[in-house]
Amino acid sequence: MSQKLSGVKGMNDLLPGELGGEMAPIETWQYVERTARELFSRFGYGEIRTPMVEDTALFVRSVGEETDIVGKEMYTFEDKAQRSLSLRPEGTAPAARAYIEHSVANLEPVTRWYYMGPMFRYERMKTGRYRQFFQIGAEAYGSREAAQDVELMDMVVQLLEALGLKEISLNLNSLGDEACRPAFQKKLVEHLTAHRDALCADCQRRLEHNPMRVLDCKNEKCQAVARGSPDILQFLCEPCQAHFADVRRKLDALKVRYVINPRMVRGLDYYTRTAFEFIASHPALGTASTVGGGGRYDKLVKSLGGPDVPAVGFGLGLDRLTLLLREGGQRYSAPPDVFIAVADEGSQDEAFTLASRLRREGLKVEFDTRGGSLKSQMKRADKTRARFALVLGEAERQAGRAQLKPMAGGEPLSVALGEIAQAVRAAPQAPAPQG
Ligand code: HAM
Repeated sequence: MSQKLSGVKGMNDLLPGELGGEMAPIETWQYVERTARELFSRFGYGEIRTPMVEDTALFVRSVGEETDIVGKEMYTFEDKAQRSLSLRPEGTAPAARAYIEHSVANLEPVTRWYYMGPMFRYERMKTGRYRQFFQIGAEAYGSREAAQDVELMDMVVQLLEALGLKEISLNLNSLGDEACRPAFQKKLVEHLTAHRDALCADCQRRLEHNPMRVLDCKNEKCQAVARGSPDILQFLCEPCQAHFADVRRKLDALKVRYVINPRMVRGLDYYTRTAFEFIASHPALGTASTVGGGGRYDKLVKSLGGPDVPAVGFGLGLDRLTLLLREGGQRYSAPPDVFIAVADEGSQDEAFTLASRLRREGLKVEFDTRGGSLKSQMKRADKTRARFALVLGEAERQAGRAQLKPMAGGEPLSVALGEIAQAVRAAPQAPAPQG
């Protein structure tokens, strides 16, 4: 017997209905994607699709060499020409690369993009944390204004609202800029040095090269040291303070609630000023409770060789959003309108043709190509949650009429075979599943 092959650990199959095990049904994913596309276009964001593989240097220079993402979690390999390539661990750097490569700054002063797709990080897996996971992200280039930061946060808030996701809190911070961050870093290094022995080996190294990364180390002991660290907001220079105040004022004006969290520094190096995270309180996600995060990165485009263009963006974890939605118990798949069952073998061909015609007329139709007993077909009709079953047999073919049987109960409707689509459309709808 040949050996059974399994998928790669931490990378999931997404399947329709309830077949997907731990992952939410694909219909839930499609619902989120549809809702996001529709909403983002209302905000003027256009979709981009960049390759899943990029030059490794892109992530080293943007996300940062000392981050967990680049230091430990990237899928990096050499191609046949000995180029070092990596599966993208995130979407901001590829988007910035495309923005620069296509000289977009010369073509329009403000650019708003969004993307959806798989990202790859070699992480320790658990519920809500995978090695291939999906992000919905958005990036806005060209505006330094707080209004741009708030527009993006508002877009996330409106998406979560449209999805019916409640109890997600927005954590907000400012990480300052090159003018004020050094003073904070100096104090931070003093604090960390005083607690050096309590830090993990990685953080002892980070202390030398990139001390802010100690603040998002996942090690318990390092987190305890981080909790006592200086408060970055006390160090902001006047322009960063004014920007942060403007962000808060605009969030208040939109009645978006948030919590200020001065210890939230994000796990990527490119941020300046605003940083934010959306955190769910639902136990289903365990420690993977951050459903999204983002912030401003005014220096990244230039540091990658592009023009001096400020930017801000976010990434949302689609795996986590769909797990939360599944907890809500709602189904997002629309059931068939009609299940066509065949009463006798002689009616099989006509039923098949009828199914095809009704689909052309816009109905969602199920038909069992294997035929079989009427009882087994009706069982299947039940399972598909079809609104109506229609039995086609010799008698119906003779009469040119059949009965549409509402599967939820109620009186059957007698309809002419040529008028089924109209009759289904005219029939009162049971409360439809959302989406
Ligand atoms: P990030 O915080 O690294 O930010 O990721 C954003 C979201 O992706 C997380 O909040 C989480 O929901 C999801 N996520 C991350 N890793 C995993 C994983 N292993 N399994 C499942 N979900 C995961 C970024 O990636 C930035 N590029 C966001 C951004 C855009 N900043 C500015 N623009």
